Amino acid sequence: MKKITFGPETYVYPKPAFLIGANVNGKPNFMAAAWCGIVNSEPPMIGVGIRPQRHTFKGVKENGTFSVNVPSIEHVQQMDYCGIYSGVREDKNNVCGFTIFYGKIKTAPMIEQFPVNLECSVVKEVKLGTHFLFIGQIQQVHVSENVLTNGLPDVEKIKPIIYSSGAEMAYHGLGSRLGAAHSCGKELKR
Ligand SMILES: Cc1cc2nc3c(=O)[nH]c(=O)nc-3n(C[C@H](O)[C@H](O)[C@H](O)COP(=O)(O)O)c2cc1C
Repeated sequence: MKKITFGPETYVYPKPAFLIGANVNGKPNFMAAAWCGIVNSEPPMIGVGIRPQRHTFKGVKENGTFSVNVPSIEHVQQMDYCGIYSGVREDKNNVCGFTIFYGKIKTAPMIEQFPVNLECSVVKEVKLGTHFLFIGQIQQVHVSENVLTNGLPDVEKIKPIIYSSGAEMAYHGLGSRLGAAHSCGKELKR
């Protein structure tokens, strides 16, 4: 297949769509983030790229803590809203109707309606180009009971949102199950 080159771009798929939570001047604030992913297993860590212009950035710097909130497809408008508007000018939590709770970290606000919430403490901060990379150690994970199967998080019940840029800037839901992880590839070895 002929390849078309695009130069340096951020075209990887899928990209997540999460809400990062932080207390800014003592008030909970959430922003959408796609530049985010797990970066270590033991101890569990997640990296998130945040521009210093974001209101949320101030809170992460202020407290050295943040939360990662995984929305379901039904929360797409609230997630997008928190990616368009800034907490500098308004209380987004009112508009979105978020119920906020705290876990063991008292400065990492989380959204009750979202099925998965991670509490994180910053262990490393790296200034990149446009963004700062914050690496957060995951201190606690909260999962809504109704998205569990056999006591574990079930992606088909969580129904996460995929963000895409390229041919179209859009959100998508999960596709169909393809096979068993760490296992279906073995069939090639026959
Ligand atoms: C889908 C989506 C993903 C985004 N991902 C990021 C990101 O990874 N890092 C970032 O700094 N801003 C990202 N943004 C932009 C911020 O969410 C946006 O500027 C937001 O209004 C900041 O809110 P705040 O000023 O209240 O923190 C994203 C926006 C959208 C809609």
